Amino acid sequence: GYPFHSSHPIFSLSPVNLESLQKQFDELANFSDTPAPSVTRILFTENDVLARGYIKELMGKAGLSVREDAVGNIFGRWTGSDPELGAVATGSHIDAIPYSGKYDGVVGVLGALEAINVLKRSGFQPKRSLEVILFTSEEPTRFGISCLGSRLLAGSEALVNGIKESVDDQNTSFFDAAKSAGYVVSEENLSTVILEKGSYFSFLELHIEQGPLLEEEGVSIGIVTAIAAPASIKVEFEGNGGHAGAVLMPERNDAGLAAAELALAVEKHVLETGSMDSVGTVGIIVLHPGAINSIPSKSHIEIDTRDIDEKRRDGIVEKIHQSSIDIAKRRGVKLSEFRIVNQDPPAKCDHLIINALEVAVRQLNLSHKMMISRAYHDSLFMARVSPMGMIFIPCYKGYSHKPEEYASIEDIANGVNVLALTLAQLSLE
Ligand code: GLV
Ligand code: MN
Ligand code: MN
Ligand code: MN
Repeated sequence: GYPFHSSHPIFSLSPVNLESLQKQFDELANFSDTPAPSVTRILFTENDVLARGYIKELMGKAGLSVREDAVGNIFGRWTGSDPELGAVATGSHIDAIPYSGKYDGVVGVLGALEAINVLKRSGFQPKRSLEVILFTSEEPTRFGISCLGSRLLAGSEALVNGIKESVDDQNTSFFDAAKSAGYVVSEENLSTVILEKGSYFSFLELHIEQGPLLEEEGVSIGIVTAIAAPASIKVEFEGNGGHAGAVLMPERNDAGLAAAELALAVEKHVLETGSMDSVGTVGIIVLHPGAINSIPSKSHIEIDTRDIDEKRRDGIVEKIHQSSIDIAKRRGVKLSEFRIVNQDPPAKCDHLIINALEVAVRQLNLSHKMMISRAYHDSLFMARVSPMGMIFIPCYKGYSHKPEEYASIEDIANGVNVLALTLAQLSLE
């Protein structure tokens, strides 16, 4: 049982292979739809498939047995001496939003594989099986659904239904996109993805902080205590459109201005909570027909709002809904869609895993602090089916979701060591 420090002797870890790990980051970043230093890797595109192949090859080289499920979650397993026990898993994602960087998610996949290699080089023998997971589409870019793979693994009924209707902006269905990437998935076998209860004894994710605190404070490791609650909303307004010169101002019902006004309302409602933990973003506004001399007859806007406090976040969502109704009414446009795509609760990290991480950072002599994750991660959903913990490492100025994202190989190696030691300890529980 826990805690570990008394029950298991410390063994010494072989060093992380900095050179080959750095090379892997550089090589994986080449699978991108946009030029370096940016990375764009969208679910089931050619570059995503190539990157998946790259990871599967690394899994094979590490001696893991590789399995893929129907939606393309990839599992690499190191079978323990007691394979009947729940496994200890770790992983993250390699999909990348348009013009982002090469560390978001990737640190938790390449880092996990290096942690396995470190343990193997150290002569460690796991009791519980250890597993590295690459999750399908943590980013909502293509189908509008965040954490698609982990949501399904965790058994989201809403998603099993929602995914059937999902199409990308080219009107390609999720099922067809998956097929083009070599996966056979349909309504019939979708539920085979859902994990059986007790599959995992624990789940860990290594990730860049995506915030500035660790770097600013000169701290090596962040131990995450909770993940903030995300929500996303799609809204559409419809007006009559018309000629930009001929239709006089009093005669207009401009769907574009309704969207602009709603975007400002989102900011207002978020600021109104008075809490620094409330955030809201309008990252997408699309106007139809999109001509300079045509009044927008349709607008489409996508809203992301999050808070560590679920009730407060729900309050923001409710106010955004009310504003959408009010704006439509006042501007004489139709609110043709108000769809909450997801409104997820926050997740708490498991306190026993937090203890294990504290033991590991102490053994490694690394500075650490407790922190919340404002970004969401596959861990948000893995927490529904397994005790969960997250390890943050510093990243340059907290930059993320942009090309300037950077983490030094030394900071990554610290994270790999913490992960390796914690996986080892949990595997012996
Ligand atoms: C996902 O990467 C998010 O936190 O937005
Ligand atoms: Mn991301
Ligand atoms: Mn990520
Ligand atoms: Mn994320």
